[in-house]
Amino acid sequence: MPRFDLIATSTFGLENVVARELQQLGYEDCKVTDGRVVFSGDEHDIARCNLWLRSADRVLIRVGEFPATDFGELFDRTIDLPWAELLPIDAQFPVKGRSVRSRLHAVPKVQGVTKKAIVESLKKTHNRFRFDETGAEFVIEVSLLKDIATLTIDTTGPGLHKRGYRAIVGTAPLRETMAAGLIQLSYWNTDRPLIDPFCGSGTIPIEAAMIGQNIAPGLQRSFAAEDWPWIKRQIWKDARTEARDLKKKSLPAPIMAYDHDPDAIRLSQRGATDAGVGGSIRFGVQEVSNLRTPLKYGCVITNPPYGERLGEHEEIEAVYRIMGKTFATLDSWSVYVLTSHRRFEQLFGRRADRRRKLYNGRLECQYYQYQGPRPPRADDEVDDEQNTYDEQAAHKEEAAFDENDAGKAHLHEPIPLPTVATAETSAMALESIVLPTAETPPVVDPCATFIADCSEVQEAETLDVTHVADLLDN
Ligand SMILES: C[S@@+](CC[C@H](N)C(=O)[O-])C[C@H]1O[C@@H](n2cnc3c(N)ncnc32)[C@H](O)[C@@H]1O
Repeated sequence: MPRFDLIATSTFGLENVVARELQQLGYEDCKVTDGRVVFSGDEHDIARCNLWLRSADRVLIRVGEFPATDFGELFDRTIDLPWAELLPIDAQFPVKGRSVRSRLHAVPKVQGVTKKAIVESLKKTHNRFRFDETGAEFVIEVSLLKDIATLTIDTTGPGLHKRGYRAIVGTAPLRETMAAGLIQLSYWNTDRPLIDPFCGSGTIPIEAAMIGQNIAPGLQRSFAAEDWPWIKRQIWKDARTEARDLKKKSLPAPIMAYDHDPDAIRLSQRGATDAGVGGSIRFGVQEVSNLRTPLKYGCVITNPPYGERLGEHEEIEAVYRIMGKTFATLDSWSVYVLTSHRRFEQLFGRRADRRRKLYNGRLECQYYQYQGPRPPRADDEVDDEQNTYDEQAAHKEEAAFDENDAGKAHLHEPIPLPTVATAETSAMALESIVLPTAETPPVVDPCATFIADCSEVQEAETLDVTHVADLLDN
């Protein structure tokens, strides 16, 4: 079975979380760079990673990577790559492009040259002049970063944040991949209660429940590579069966989702039911000022309103002040807040133990982290002093996570992924509670047109490939 260099792409700031997820899935050879984690795998791994990765955006096959400072170099190196081994004779292969800090910055031309080189490479191997592109789709991307060209094929299709459980979204919803990242950056584990007091459409509680119940996030959707003839259908079937078998029915500690907007709560409930976690989340319409709980050692993980729109500032500042007062009563809890508001800490009334820069879409945010005391363990003596949070030790552990490698795996109870078993249950001062139920690229003729999707870099353009020769001449 051929092995590939695979790339799990991620939003800036979540690369180490993705690497840790990969390590928990059993991939040890992860190399982390900005926005991507490179590892190796075969067809089975393409299926498993698409099904199981929670914080990654896509899984790509890296076909080649080389320096390209002029179009001749790009053409010659691309033509030499083993395209015929990957693209069936009838494959559709639109070429997307992007260029960052590179001499080849005319993205449409970069795409045209790449497409032309792939066609020439296929012509040589298949001994044909024309490719009708009527079969499965293999979306290729040529990405230039500091004069290094990376050529990839997308195995995922619509981004991995599209889990398939949410038909309708509320206002300003968090991406599912980001919500999963926030949870995995926290000290939450399934034995600790979790509250999102600004749940909106419920992304954070739903993703937490899916993590807790060990539900593979991709179980309800399909992937681009499922249509590829060289990955047997049985591989996908087996990966799905394995994922279904690993699903747990309930959680030991409650997850609570509140919002002051009843429509948001209705939407959250629907999303949770569709995601198969309706029974694990308690929903309620509630102002944040009314948040109270007798539970201890839980985590608040939340994404409050940011007040980005004109006229909202005073209102939002009042909300942040209320948050400060309300959360102060949860003295054994850890609190995690994602916001773009620059004065959040001042208004909340406490400096965070830790901040992490993350992007919610294009908006620069900080993830403010306030660590509460560590929950007592089963073998701890009941001695308050012993249970106080060891800040120095925690910072060391966090630093270890930032340097990636095994990351925070030792801080959390590992979730039983296909290769990982559940770790011991820590005895918290909690009862075991089982809760009541509460862009697809267009189909195109390669010898006519293809779409340049450069949304990250520049406006999308349509390029006429019949004029590739002209492009090359220019
Ligand atoms: C940025 S949205 C949360 C989006 C959510 N993370 C999602 O993925 O859909 C903020 C939410 O806070 C709610 N909210 C605003 N002020 C509130 C308050 N004072 N108490 C409770 N909820 C509030 C809004 O109704 C909105 O749904």
